[in-house]
Amino acid sequence: MLGTILLINVKGIWLPVTKENIPVKGSKLNDSNILSDAFLFVKNGKIESFGKMSDLTDDLPLGTLENTAQMDCGGRYVLPSFVDAHSHLVFASWRENEMEMRLNGKTYLEIAESGGGILNSARRLEETTEEHLFESAWERLESLIKMGTGALEIKSGYGLSLGAELKMLRVIRRLKEESPIPIKSTFLGAHAIPSIYKDRTDYIDLIINQMIPAVSKENLADYCDVFCDKGFFTPEETELILKQGIKYGLVPKVHANELARSGGVQVGVKLGAKSVDHLECMEEEEISLLANSNVIPVLLPGTAFFLGIHPPDARRMIQNNLPVALSSDYNPGTCPSGNMEFVVSMACHMLKMKPFEAINAATINSAMAMDCGEIAGKILVGRNANLLVTKPIPSLGFLPYHFGESSIERVMLNGHWV
Ligand code: NIG
Ligand code: FE
Repeated sequence: MLGTILLINVKGIWLPVTKENIPVKGSKLNDSNILSDAFLFVKNGKIESFGKMSDLTDDLPLGTLENTAQMDCGGRYVLPSFVDAHSHLVFASWRENEMEMRLNGKTYLEIAESGGGILNSARRLEETTEEHLFESAWERLESLIKMGTGALEIKSGYGLSLGAELKMLRVIRRLKEESPIPIKSTFLGAHAIPSIYKDRTDYIDLIINQMIPAVSKENLADYCDVFCDKGFFTPEETELILKQGIKYGLVPKVHANELARSGGVQVGVKLGAKSVDHLECMEEEEISLLANSNVIPVLLPGTAFFLGIHPPDARRMIQNNLPVALSSDYNPGTCPSGNMEFVVSMACHMLKMKPFEAINAATINSAMAMDCGEIAGKILVGRNANLLVTKPIPSLGFLPYHFGESSIERVMLNGHWV
């Protein structure tokens, strides 16, 4: 039968620490619920049951198992697919030349101010057809799925004109329609100010009065995001834009505090954002605001790794009971990789997160940051069988430990091997 398979002798199934649709916070982030020496039965693409090997024939009468494909998972762990709640998957071309500029001493901000960076991506996107954008994004999506991503958020923000932003968002809509994994769409018209605007308020007016209404009219986005940071958008501008988004049904998110303490966390908390992302530059004020809110802090270690900036202080956030989530920030300028297994590894080595904290943050909590906690990030009976089977490994800590080489042997999507 299609999408029906029995996994046996699983060394450990990573079950969720909570069945409730809530994020895992603070010290609980290091909790685990591993069912050892287990079986997991997938029927018609869904998780039908799981249990101890010793209970297999009681739980699943032999008749059920006839003609069912089996995989012996001896030595292997089974995990839920990763959830990546922050990506810029749709872009026209890579920007490896900017990496070399940085290696020659220029900073990210200097490159951006001289017309590189996001404006460079916007120029190239302008010249690229919708079809081509879709095809290149689709290729990257397929490669992410093979690496274990089971749900993905994608932002616009390389358009920066009404037409080009809508073009990007239509590409994301088509990815949503055709993708085998759940996708959420975010409008990020406020990613940078195009250089043709002598007066920045003209571009902000365009976002508010034309882009957001048009995005909403075509139902092209779930969220509205703003790059609230030094050299990009101020907290006042961020608030204006996000408020207009809210008026049009777009839930706020903020790119906050990546390059400086930007005030982005304050705006995000004030407006009840779904998440505030990046958070490299944080002080007590931001941490305690987040601790008293329902906003998810999404950390993106790949950006600090690639830009060589100092990483977010995950330990302090966890000590302050925050529901830390992990995602990739996959984009051509600041993190040209969407590999979530590597994100988990970087979280351990750079952010000093413990392996179980990182796994919870890259599954349960990242799912909460893109409102798909009910369908992704957890192994529960009745859910789609979107799973990762590891190689035979001594412990789950081996996955972040053995960086640069994947510990994932097979990926299952809706009961089928990818
Ligand atoms: O999330 N920080 C803002 N935007 C992206 C980078 C975009 C780019 O450089 O292309 C980010 O890091
Ligand atoms: Fe980003």
